[in-house]
Formats: sequence, structure tokens, C-alpha cells
Amino acid sequence: MTDIIKAIENIAVEIYEAIKTKDTGKVDSCNVSGDVQVKLDVISDEIVEKHLLKVKSIKEIISEEKETPITKEEGEYFVAYDPLDGSSLIDVDLSVGSIFGIYKDGYNGKNIKASVYVVYGPRVEMVVARDVVELFRLNENTKTFEFVKELKLKEKGKILGPGGTQAKWFDFHKKMIDELFMEGYRLRYSGGMVPDLHQILLKEGGLFAYPATTDKLKGKLRKLFEVFPFAYTYKKAGGEAVDGFKDLLTLKADGYHDTTPCFFGSRYEIDKVLKTYEKNKEKLKG
Ligand code: AHG
Ligand code: MN
Ligand code: MN
Repeated sequence: MTDIIKAIENIAVEIYEAIKTKDTGKVDSCNVSGDVQVKLDVISDEIVEKHLLKVKSIKEIISEEKETPITKEEGEYFVAYDPLDGSSLIDVDLSVGSIFGIYKDGYNGKNIKASVYVVYGPRVEMVVARDVVELFRLNENTKTFEFVKELKLKEKGKILGPGGTQAKWFDFHKKMIDELFMEGYRLRYSGGMVPDLHQILLKEGGLFAYPATTDKLKGKLRKLFEVFPFAYTYKKAGGEAVDGFKDLLTLKADGYHDTTPCFFGSRYEIDKVLKTYEKNKEKLKG
């Protein structure tokens, strides 16, 4: 496992360099999920692949940018990654990230053993979730990550990141979000789940929601590369991560690019989500 984390540190340094120096433009292709790719999506994917395939303990890798996995002869870990999350924010110079889920025996929620994400912002930070959740920061002189502190969520937060197209929200979802704002929550949403979830984690609480919408009942965010890794991080930090009804880590994935509605936060907000969705579950059946 340590060898995988070391490889991710090297990947982060290289992707950060690419973000600073390479073209921010689009390419003429879409990924498997139908998202328009930018050149940096492709470059970042190649950087991750190059490093991870050299790690002995890795058996297989699958990327948000690849249709199918690459399997090796040796190794025990399965790594699913989003090489550049929030890539549509590259050309407006907002923070972006990379996400890695480290699995054993396949890619279901219960098989995730560790998760790592990197935020490329004014500073580069890396959050590693194993038994505990730890924050590291890149020292630009030595190109190494230095430990900063352990991260824990409180029972209740003050900020809210409500994703998805509002015109397509279910009415009961809109009412729940409105009520949270009326309770005093403040809007914190950039359109990149890495910086949005990083902010809630560092401010020690709040809610990030990417719900089912009337046009996309399974939401947008992908289980293997985005949802399971952050669910693992939030749960290890003392928070909760649900699909509206169940713990996200109890879910299976139907295919590598399968998506799910998802909510990450501290206990108070997730409790409200669970109560609201339970009361309105018939409405989601269309
Ligand atoms: P990616 O750049 O890897 O495709 O992911 C973008 C994701 C996520 O970071 C963010 O929370 C969400 O898409 C935002 O989507 P909308 O712009 O559709 O709200
Ligand atoms: Mn993403
Ligand atoms: Mn991506």
C-alpha cells in the first residue's frame, strides 16, 4: 500500500507541472461517460497509468478516461482513478483534483481498502484515508508531501454544496436544500467535487449533494472513481456517505462507469437527507 501512495505522490507532482505548463484546450473526443475531454484529461491519464503500472502490488487499473481496465500478471490491488476531476474548470483557473480508490478483490463499495485524493489549488494538498484520514501538503522545494494533520468531521457543519441541474431537481430535494439554507447554511459550490468536498472536510462539516434528477435518476458521479473513494474518506473521518437511503459503501457497481446519486457530510445533515428521502421514496419511482 505504501508503494501505491508513494507513486501517487509522484503522479501529483507531475500532473501539477502539466497543469501549470500545458495547453488548457479541448480535444475532439468524449470519454466513456460522454464528457468532452480536455487535453489535460488525456495527459493526466497517461501520467497516472505510467506510474501505477510500475507498482508491484497493483494487479489492475481502471480510469474514468478508459473503457476497460489494464490488468497485470502480478499484484493484489485494483486501483480505480479519476486522473483530473473538475477538468472543465481548468480554463477558468479554479482548483481541480485527482481521485484514487484502492480496492482488493474487485471494485464494489465493500472492497475499498484506502482512498487518496489530491487538490491542485494555490497549494497542492493530498488526503490519504486508511484507518484514519491524514492531510499532507506538497513542499515545492523538495517535491515531497509533508504531513499536516489528521482530519475529523464534527456532528454538524455550516456549508452546503448542492450539485445537479436545479431545474431537474425533485421538489422534495429542493425543499430540503431550501430548508438547510433557511437554517443558516452558506453556499459553497465550485463544480469540482474534489475542492468542494475538500472544503467541507477541512471546515469540519457540512453537506455535498449530487442527487438523482428527473432526467438522470442515477445521478452523474461515478461510483468507482469518485463516489466510493470519497465515501471511504468521509466515513473514516467520522462523517457519513449515502445514496439517499443506504451507506454508499454497501453498493455494487454495474459496470466500470456506473453512477449513483450521492450525499457526503456530517451526521446531522446526512440524517436529514435520509429522513427526507425515506419520506419521499415513492416520488423517485417516476
Ligand atoms: P470530471 O471533471 O472528472 O468529469 O468530474 C466533474 C464532476 C465533479 O467534479 C463535479 O462535482 C460535477 O462533475 C459537476 O457537475 P455539473 O457541472 O454537471 O454540476
Ligand atoms: Mn470527476
Ligand atoms: Mn475527470
